[in-house]
Amino acid sequence: MIEFPKNFLWGAAASAPQTEGHSNSNGKSPSTWDKWFELCPNKFHQSQGPETTSNVYEMYPQDIERMAELGLNSYRTSIAWTRLLPDGYTINQEAVDFYRDYFTTLKNHGVEPIINLFHFDMPWWLMEKGGWETRESVDAFSTYADTAFHLFGDLITKWTTFNEPIVHIESGYLQGYHYPAIVDIQKAVQVGYHTLMAHFKAVEKFRASGIKGEIGIILNISPAYARSHSQSDLEAKNLADLISSKSFLDPCVLGEIPQRLIKYLQEAGLTPETQPGDRELIRQNPVDFLGLNYYQPLRVKAPERPNFPPKTISDIFEVYDWPEKRINPYRGWEIYPEGIYDVAKMIKDDYHNIPWYVSENGMGVADELRFADVTGMIQDDYRIDFMKEHLVQLHKGISEGSNCFGYHTWTFVDCWSWLNGYRNRYGFYHVDLAHGYKRSVKKSGLWFKEMIGNRGF
Ligand code: BG6
Repeated sequence: MIEFPKNFLWGAAASAPQTEGHSNSNGKSPSTWDKWFELCPNKFHQSQGPETTSNVYEMYPQDIERMAELGLNSYRTSIAWTRLLPDGYTINQEAVDFYRDYFTTLKNHGVEPIINLFHFDMPWWLMEKGGWETRESVDAFSTYADTAFHLFGDLITKWTTFNEPIVHIESGYLQGYHYPAIVDIQKAVQVGYHTLMAHFKAVEKFRASGIKGEIGIILNISPAYARSHSQSDLEAKNLADLISSKSFLDPCVLGEIPQRLIKYLQEAGLTPETQPGDRELIRQNPVDFLGLNYYQPLRVKAPERPNFPPKTISDIFEVYDWPEKRINPYRGWEIYPEGIYDVAKMIKDDYHNIPWYVSENGMGVADELRFADVTGMIQDDYRIDFMKEHLVQLHKGISEGSNCFGYHTWTFVDCWSWLNGYRNRYGFYHVDLAHGYKRSVKKSGLWFKEMIGNRGF
């Protein structure tokens, strides 16, 4: 039996664009996802777009009852910037009413809302001006954040600024998965810098508001593991950690962009445009806590043909196909539960043991209905095994002193997954798109309920 601490947060995570639906109505303006879908629907799995997500906009009261029924004591979702401030400054009263009721209903059911401000959903009006490429985005985001703090600050005690900020940088400017889907390393660096500054401006606004509560950031941490102990592989591993983890972890927790990263960018001629006072802003606004999303490790090797200055990520490090890896074949991600222990240890040893929680962990599987039993319940034992293995490793990290206060899975009800639409399902509840988004609990949901009741298994 492994037992987790009392007051541990048990819950699930989601985001506004992936669950709410109603993305082109109720006063909301388009995000890049709404517009990209309108322009190129064929890019999206089975042409499933952001308008057709899980209809949480209407179904949140029943979903929250389901959360309480499973015993969840916390839930993370996001506010859609484009719903709250459709043009960047005018408040949409219908959005205020919706979010206030959503968050109040969560609280009334004993489910603490953890509210995030940006989950890949850049407003289209801002994207047309360059999105995170322009410094204007920093002020626009801090205006939005400040508005949210004042409108909902009496209901929320845990805020986060960004979900996985490295993802919209890499996916949008290096890998082609998110709009504008270009490959331009110079722009990627500038977008990253402005995202970072937007985070810090929002934290500064939060502190200035005097609103009670805590503020953090959610980062996807895939610890890098080198193919070998050769100097070039180890160098690739260090650069991978520097770019994908430390670029945000260090400034957000330690108050400084790593010197090694600054030097690397200088030597490569990739230094972003900055403004006087930026360094001080970073230094003075550390986060109160971290949310860390863990799905998979990052296996790396030295590039076959190193290229400096780099033009793409693979000029810096290459992904290594470890022959012994276990894989989730649907998502193509390695399953390596030990990684969560390494993350726990890293936070304890290198980030002064700041309070943190697992803000996402989970397994996306396609065609889950083939695993339904005679009653129609999906028997997702693979998901239960996945959670158990990760919880064992997390528990080990906590036993050794890591300051982890919770575990959230991705996700509660099956949700829309960007270009992958509804192909891979992650939820405790199946969503039947053909029958009014009907929810039905999977075996993993019942297992999670029992586990929460016992504070372990
Ligand atoms: C996380 C994101 O990285 O992984 C979510 O925060 C995402 O938005 C989740 O949906 C699962 O990944 P995917 O690509 O299978 O949806």
